[in-house]
Amino acid sequence: MKPFLFKLNAVAKNILILVQPQVLLSFLIQPFTFISNFLSLTKWIAQQPTEGVYKDAFSLFRNYNNRYDLYSYVIDKAHLQNTEIVYIEMGVCGGSSFEWWMKHNHNDQSKFFGFDTFEGLPEKWGYFFKNGDMNADAPELIDARGQFLKGLFQDTLVPFLATNNIKGKQKVIHLDADLFSSTLFSLSILYPYLQKGDIIFFDEFNVPNHEFLAFKIFTESFYVKLELLGAVNHFYQTSFIVK
Ligand SMILES: C[S@@+](CC[C@H](N)C(=O)[O-])C[C@H]1O[C@@H](n2cnc3c(N)ncnc32)[C@H](O)[C@@H]1O
Repeated sequence: MKPFLFKLNAVAKNILILVQPQVLLSFLIQPFTFISNFLSLTKWIAQQPTEGVYKDAFSLFRNYNNRYDLYSYVIDKAHLQNTEIVYIEMGVCGGSSFEWWMKHNHNDQSKFFGFDTFEGLPEKWGYFFKNGDMNADAPELIDARGQFLKGLFQDTLVPFLATNNIKGKQKVIHLDADLFSSTLFSLSILYPYLQKGDIIFFDEFNVPNHEFLAFKIFTESFYVKLELLGAVNHFYQTSFIVK
């Protein structure tokens, strides 16, 4: 029976490829992709533990400042105030989150690396943001421990890792590039450097076709276990620890 079904499946697929269904049906790709990713997101959220996980109070409206409460929770829980860390931020823009981390980690051996084109998004993000949006001049560095790496992640991250030894260091990785491509690229390239106890933040985690999808593909493809530490704004900002 199995070999017969296997053959039937192959024949059906070959016929469908010949018929070219996309000519009439490609308008379904976007809504079906969105629905599929959205359902994966809500299913994933429903499977998360609630005990011992930081959450803000229920609200219909997003409060962007709640992300700082999440950072404070994580920095306390992981004892990162005075620990030597390597902070890597993928997507710096005006630098608000980058500055927060520099101000709240007091170890003078810590290093803070911020990656951005500083010319805005390299491609459109959803319906509301186009290529070039969010462009901002690199903020002034308030602290000698910080450094900005200007350019596409796809051009800057690999050379950076070849010349900076971040292996074995306590890392805080902040993924705030919004885009699926940028987030998946960053996670995949940083993968060999990840170690147990590293912290990863997503700033737009609950966007089904972007950061969530990158997280899903990354964890499923690299067999990486990320344990939820906390989430605010209904998982818009979410933090994990590498297990
Ligand atoms: C939401 S903003 C960052 C906000 C910032 N972390 C904050 O909290 O203030 C996203 C940034 O990601 C950058 N970005 C997205 N994809 C990128 C890529 N592939 N290479 C370089 N920069 C990228 C954009 O230029 C944009 O400035």
